[in-house]
Amino acid sequence: MSDKFCPACAIQDINQFGEFGDVNPSITDSATYTFLTEKTMIDAFHGETEGCFLYSRHWNPSNKYLSDSLAAMEGTEAAWVTASGMAAITTAILQLCSAGDHIVTSVTTYGGTFAFLQNYLPKFGIDVSFVNIEDHESVRKALRPNTKVLYTETMTNPMLQISDIPALAEMTRENGTKLVVDNTFTPMIFSPAQMGADIVVYSMTKFINGKNDCVAGAICASAEFIADISDVNSGTAMLLGPVLDPLRSSSILKNLATLHIRMQKHSQNAMYLAKQFKEIGLKMIYPGLPEHPQYKLMTNLMHNSYGYGGMIAIDVETAEKAAPFMEMMQERGVGYHAVSLGYFKTLFSNSGKSTSSEVPEEIQKEMGLSPGLIRFSVGLDHDIKRTFETIKSCLVDLKYI
Ligand SMILES: Cc1ncc(COP(=O)(O)O)c(C=O)c1O
Repeated sequence: MSDKFCPACAIQDINQFGEFGDVNPSITDSATYTFLTEKTMIDAFHGETEGCFLYSRHWNPSNKYLSDSLAAMEGTEAAWVTASGMAAITTAILQLCSAGDHIVTSVTTYGGTFAFLQNYLPKFGIDVSFVNIEDHESVRKALRPNTKVLYTETMTNPMLQISDIPALAEMTRENGTKLVVDNTFTPMIFSPAQMGADIVVYSMTKFINGKNDCVAGAICASAEFIADISDVNSGTAMLLGPVLDPLRSSSILKNLATLHIRMQKHSQNAMYLAKQFKEIGLKMIYPGLPEHPQYKLMTNLMHNSYGYGGMIAIDVETAEKAAPFMEMMQERGVGYHAVSLGYFKTLFSNSGKSTSSEVPEEIQKEMGLSPGLIRFSVGLDHDIKRTFETIKSCLVDLKYI
């Protein structure tokens, strides 16, 4: 992808001051807002809210600062911040779909997303088809005249497949479908909206915040879509109320400023581990190695200054072998045996038994998710060689290599 669009520069170029010239914008600590005149309040309820805040579930200044920075990072007209990644995903989908509509989704997605699509949406009469997102012919075949959403993750969880966003965007444009992309694994590395995605969703719980001290999410899209979700009469965000707390917004905003450096380090460390894992003959998935089936695609679509990401999956074949390995890695200080990702410490878990446990075993098998697949979110370790030596010592002591 052309590196003309620079997510980190877009964030750097935003100047957001507090009311006393504070370099960090003042935090809004209010649920409601006063109006000097009745007319302004009535106008605000009719959506004429420029520079005006009426109630924190709708908008508040702290959320606006963070939303503006995220919109700049994605190059979208607007954004809205939510209380979790799932809130961002469900709000976007419920805004776009009504009873009788249809969704096509990558079968490989975060387990919570899979469960929402598979188990929750049918009660609203929304039909969902699951496809292998790499197989464009089956994506095309699955699209119907009433398909409102094509859903995918730029780098899928946990199989680390790369979605060809420009190709998928072309298919959706032909069909009048909205392309919704979860970019949680690869903020800054990919700019899905610049490649044709209509809506980009995030779990900010992960890399964007990077501190594991809260759950949060975001929806980046056109100004029209953000106005639609926050409409007082019909907006899914306004009516279901999944708003992010403004205190959290202000802390995430500060962490956003270091995201580009953190992504580079996560990627650098993951690349080192991937190369070493390959060297010792471990079965593994890392999109930054030429043998990954979408290495070339990723290389073409990514902004190359942030690397190939911090996620690696290794396959030790069975859950019985994965368990003692993860326990030993935790004991020896490699990181934490925990779900989630994007933290400064390395996190690892058995995907099939944790974050993808919502996916029935036969579907796990179909998508190639091995029962021994351990997903690593590689941390910001200063000495990654030392970390590798510790991981290797666990493999040797368990006689896995
Ligand atoms: C790719 C992806 N999207 C969305 C989510 C959900 O985010 P949250 O836990 O913030 O609701 C997750 C979480 O685990 C995830 O891995």
